[in-house]
Amino acid sequence: MEYSEKVMEHFATPHNVGKIEDADGIGEVGNAKCGDIMKMYIKVQDGIITDVKFNTYGCASAIATSSMATDMIKGKPIEDALKLTNQAVVEALDGLPAVKIHCSVLAEEAIKAAVKDYYDKNGISYDPALFQEDSCHYDHHHAE
Ligand code: FES
Repeated sequence: MEYSEKVMEHFATPHNVGKIEDADGIGEVGNAKCGDIMKMYIKVQDGIITDVKFNTYGCASAIATSSMATDMIKGKPIEDALKLTNQAVVEALDGLPAVKIHCSVLAEEAIKAAVKDYYDKNGISYDPALFQEDSCHYDHHHAE
C-alpha cells in the first residue's frame, strides 16, 4: 500500500492530538467498516473554531486525515468546518489508497458531531439536513 509523503508526515507527527478539557462541543463517531472510534473536541468563540483536538483508536489513515482536517478548520468559521468533506481532506493529503478512503470519513463525521453538540448545548437552531448520516461522498478518483 502506497501512502503519500503528506500522509506519512501527518501520521508520524499528527497535529492537534489530545483533549480539550473545557470543550464547547464534543463529537464521537465510530467507523462502521472497521469499528474504529474518533473523538473530536472544539472550542468556539464568536462563531470561530479557536481550538480543536482529536483522539482516535483509528489507523494511520484516520490519524493522518484527522491531523489534516483539524488543521483545515482551526481558526475558521463554524460554517466552513461544516462544509469540509473527507474528499477535500484526502486531496490536501495528496490522496489515500482506495481501501483507506473510509478511514477519512471519521474525521469529517467527528467534526460535524462536535459542531452539532455545540449547537445543541447552546440552543442554536440549525438545519438538521446538515447532519444527515449518509456521508457518501467517497470519491475514488482521489485515491490513487
Ligand atoms: Fe479503521 Fe482506518 S481502518 S479508521
